[in-house]
Amino acid sequence: MMTTFENSLNKFDEKDWLKTLESLLPEIHEVDRRATQIWFRFYPLALHKYLQSVEDKAVAVQQFVMQGKFELKDQIDNSHHFLYGHRFWKEVKEAIITRTNSSNSETANLADEIRQIAKDVFGKTKTDMNLLTGIAAVGLMTLTQVGLDAFRNTGGEAQTPESLMKKSPDIIVAERAKDDSQGLFGFLKTVDKSWTVTWDESKQNGRFKLTNDEEIASGAARDQSQNWLAQDPRCGEGVIPVECRSAACGTCWVGILCGAEKLSEVEPRERKQMKIFGYNQGDDAKPILRLACQARSFGAISLVIPPWNGVFGKKVYGGIEHIELEPATTSAVKLRQAITDAAENK
Ligand code: FES
Repeated sequence: MMTTFENSLNKFDEKDWLKTLESLLPEIHEVDRRATQIWFRFYPLALHKYLQSVEDKAVAVQQFVMQGKFELKDQIDNSHHFLYGHRFWKEVKEAIITRTNSSNSETANLADEIRQIAKDVFGKTKTDMNLLTGIAAVGLMTLTQVGLDAFRNTGGEAQTPESLMKKSPDIIVAERAKDDSQGLFGFLKTVDKSWTVTWDESKQNGRFKLTNDEEIASGAARDQSQNWLAQDPRCGEGVIPVECRSAACGTCWVGILCGAEKLSEVEPRERKQMKIFGYNQGDDAKPILRLACQARSFGAISLVIPPWNGVFGKKVYGGIEHIELEPATTSAVKLRQAITDAAENK
């Protein structure tokens, strides 16, 4: 049975959460500002609620062509590994569990509730509140989606910070913004400039190179330094999963932590397709999410690869304008049919 606290959290829908998050952004350190926004797009509440409400979840998952780990209950302690605040996860979890068990546990204001959790953790760790607010919001949304029993049943152990994530928040922000040196006469270079794409800031080898003006997914496919397929069955070509390479399947979505302004503009097709897929981010000129098969880079960037993909926009959010999909560029006919069905709300 749900606690009073969980029941009161459940009254808020995805729009309420995103609006609250938007209002809290000035209170979140830059190191986690985009990371927190990315996390909330990777684990949309509307999709979770939809899947809970359908008669046959397995059928819905199949209809949405969902692949990979999309449920928070399977990754309670590590879905947020890319946030600086991840290192305070254990304390955040404890604060949330205490709050859930407290007698006075009605939530009237989501922003105040998030602030209170951050404040409780500050009381124990003396860490700046702006490093705790993002992970506190993530913690409360995780509780909302997984329920108290599952939430308290995991150990709460966070990954030990490695590589860039070992540095201070301000240094991480500064390092992210740096572009690769192109050598002494780099300013004369045009086509042969190359840029680093960091896909995991906590790994020494969590990066690959991209040629100037090249699609992100193409650079990822060239890096065969690891057996990507063994790590994720969606990764047939490189660390970023790809299928169609034509903005038709949604497999290659990524969150842009830093460098959105160094990417090619979002074309109308990519923008519309994102809505069909259900990757919810409005019409921002420098969006948080991009399709790696479409976005080309003109500088070093840092991104996050979600552990799943799917096509659920029409069913979950409704009101999605239909557009003609291009002819298949892959043999995955079944996948294409499912996507067409999802887009046409069949
Ligand atoms: S690979 Fe299909 S949308 Fe990018």
